Amino acid sequence: MFLCARLRPGVSSSVRRYLHKTTRCTSAGGASFAHKDTPENNPDTPFDFTADSYKKIDSILGNYPEGHKAGAVIPVLDLAQRQHGWLPISAMNKVAEVLGMPAMRVYEVATFYTMFNRTPVGKHHIQICTTTPCMLRDSDGILETIKKKLGIKVGETTPDKLFTLAEVECLGACVNAPMVQINDNYYEDLAPKDIENIIDDLKAGKFPQPGPRNGRFSCEPAGGLTSLTEPPKGPGFGVRADL
Ligand code: FES
Repeated sequence: MFLCARLRPGVSSSVRRYLHKTTRCTSAGGASFAHKDTPENNPDTPFDFTADSYKKIDSILGNYPEGHKAGAVIPVLDLAQRQHGWLPISAMNKVAEVLGMPAMRVYEVATFYTMFNRTPVGKHHIQICTTTPCMLRDSDGILETIKKKLGIKVGETTPDKLFTLAEVECLGACVNAPMVQINDNYYEDLAPKDIENIIDDLKAGKFPQPGPRNGRFSCEPAGGLTSLTEPPKGPGFGVRADL
């Protein structure tokens, strides 16, 4: 078992939070790596791709050379999840069948990536990054705000099935830390009030604008541009006319 505690200077030991408590069978987000049959998730859970999904699979497979269909396992698993809402083991088995690969190889991929939800998730799947850059920018505060606002802990879904909360590792937007991913969208440069507003919008059926919440464009410097401050001069600038 790997156990890692973190404590920031000036933070009382009463709020010390264990970041990872990873056992052989449990991921950081709390999901079990091991599958256990349940009434809603077992090899007989009904799943087949729709005609439209089969067309998409044909198109995906067109990107891979003959004999390398297994390379499409991630996009085809993603397709299965988008169609079903989450990924029961019967969907993984169907992916294995469609790609002509051993089911175990599909399970290995589906259990490795946190993007695959092997249990049902709410309509809005909130994944909060708490890796070092986000932690240094107070992802703990954002996480506590979400937990308090929704009344759920990491790994849980609200009773109305609207929200599921997961804690994940770096989502590749460290320059806009702290941030969360909600379904396919990134919400960045968050303060606790921002995430409260985002959740309120989602509850009201609105679509909150993704991206930074501190007014900056994309990942430009928070204090404004320090280089490339003029419009580009266009091709040919500086080229001698006699050449
Ligand atoms: S550390 Fe949070 S996005 Fe990279």
